[in-house]
Amino acid sequence: MKKYAVIVAAGSGQRMNSKIPKQFIQIKGKPVLWYTIQAFLYAFPDIEIILVLPEEYQANAFKLLHIPFNPRIHVTNGGATRFHSVQNGLRLIQEHGVVFIHDGVRCLVSNELINRCYNQALKSGSAIPAVTANDSIRIQDGNTSRSINRNNVKIIQTPQTFLTEILLPAFEQDYDTSFTDEASVVEAAGKKVHLVEGEYSNIKITQPVDLLIIEKMFEEMELEA
Ligand code: C5P
Repeated sequence: MKKYAVIVAAGSGQRMNSKIPKQFIQIKGKPVLWYTIQAFLYAFPDIEIILVLPEEYQANAFKLLHIPFNPRIHVTNGGATRFHSVQNGLRLIQEHGVVFIHDGVRCLVSNELINRCYNQALKSGSAIPAVTANDSIRIQDGNTSRSINRNNVKIIQTPQTFLTEILLPAFEQDYDTSFTDEASVVEAAGKKVHLVEGEYSNIKITQPVDLLIIEKMFEEMELEA
């Protein structure tokens, strides 16, 4: 089965208060994206990587990423929103297969999670990694708020994984502001999505504290190696 990983990394990362986008911040001498790309290359020797980058990073992408040129890695332009960035990436898909859509800033994705998503997508057409909320959750409604059962609240992660015949037609829809991930796009196209167990360590670098946690985790992993 043909495999593609569309790694979206075209955001500007405003919440990080950093001059360079968070996906290019270096950890132990390598950009965050380097680790993310390696995770997918390691998972499947035949996978094709479609890297969605800001326009100004395109020309020197391999150099900036500290990666030697690799014909299995294709680079394309980001769009105005995550939906448009994914849409651009999907245009490079030419064969039927399984597609992982992954946040470039989730550099700790494990080989187990990638394989769990792959196997579930083969079985049911989609695999959306999710973890149960640890915090108490309240829904705000004007000046009041109400508590809901946190065991029913799922925090959604990536790689969101699909068969091409489900994902590609869904991305032909017009953009809607409710499209915060691929699962919401596929559902709006009338298809069911299937959750799989995600990982609490599969952190999305969003704020400076996330980077500190990831640096510490890399240190621990090195100690174990
Ligand atoms: O903004 P958010 O943290 O949800 O971004 C998740 C991922 O989507 C990041 O890896 C970011 O670079 C990517 N993204 C993108 N194009 C956009 C917005 C976000 O590729 N226009």
